[in-house]
Amino acid sequence: MPGKVLVAGASGALGRHVVAELVARAVPVRILTRRSGGKALPGVEVVEGDALKPGALRGLADGVDVVFSCLGASVDPGAPGRAGYGAVDTPANLALLEEARRAGVRRFVYVSVFHTPALAHLAYVKAHEDVVRALQASGLDVAVVRPTGFFSAFALMLPLAAKGPLPVMGSGAARSNPIADEDLALVCVEAILGSGREYPAGGPQTLTRREVNAQVFAALGKPERTYPVPLWGLKLVAFLAALFHPRASQFLRFMVGLSEQDLVAPVKGQRTLGEALKARASRAG
Ligand SMILES: NC(=O)c1ccc[n+]([C@@H]2O[C@H](COP(=O)([O-])OP(=O)(O)OC[C@H]3O[C@@H](n4cnc5c(N)ncnc54)[C@H](OP(=O)(O)O)[C@@H]3O)[C@@H](O)[C@H]2O)c1
Repeated sequence: MPGKVLVAGASGALGRHVVAELVARAVPVRILTRRSGGKALPGVEVVEGDALKPGALRGLADGVDVVFSCLGASVDPGAPGRAGYGAVDTPANLALLEEARRAGVRRFVYVSVFHTPALAHLAYVKAHEDVVRALQASGLDVAVVRPTGFFSAFALMLPLAAKGPLPVMGSGAARSNPIADEDLALVCVEAILGSGREYPAGGPQTLTRREVNAQVFAALGKPERTYPVPLWGLKLVAFLAALFHPRASQFLRFMVGLSEQDLVAPVKGQRTLGEALKARASRAG
């Protein structure tokens, strides 16, 4: 059993499940959050701070055994903040690393992105892998979790499909195996409590983009309606969006990359996307 675990990104889609799993195992937890006055789980120590503010993390890792970070800019284009991933994920996590080294933390577990070498140059992937390189050069005991897409990201398609047709990017034939946020949290806890270095993680079903669209409409109980979008058109939109919304532009460029090739990670999850989407759709009414 480790000592205290510091969770950065604890209010996020993945982080909240990781915190819950650690608390369920009676692991002492400290969280970093920018949200003030939020309700924390019993036994969780809350530290407010913005990792991008100089000096904000000083003392944060004192007494901490393992740092776990899933801190990063959102993949939801509608979320606040337009700065690109290299201006958020990389400097914020490097600041965490600096604080971890200062405090003498034993292990650092970081959530990057499952990808192929052909996607490594894309800004979204590079922002994460720049952190990985710094961690691996730090001399700390480091583990990297590399997930495919989270079910929570696919759930963003539900309100769009409720209102109209969904786009099919390119041929729609590229395959991937998304993973439930809850299942990925178990992988993260395994990495926090264990001693491995690499934790690639995907879900149990490998689906084409067209099959994902079909599952979104099935979850809503609506007939499937789609329209084709050529990848060159998306590349053009991403190019133009870079001028006013770098984060959305970089994630769109990553989506184009995913539409051009298969991305299938070792199966670690058990939950299926269709069931998760149905549950979310019925919760949303
Ligand atoms: N979602 C996916 O499909 C997917 C797939 C592969 C990899 N990933 C990666 O996995 C990680 C977690 O993803 P997620 O979907 O759980 O992210 P998320 O829901 O957007 O949560 C991100 C977390 O980072 C925190 N954060 C951001 N900037 C911060 C700052 N300057 N100081 C302190 N905290 C800050 C946010 O806090 P606030 O609540 O204050 O905003 C939030 O708790 C990300 O690095 C993401 O790129 C995601």
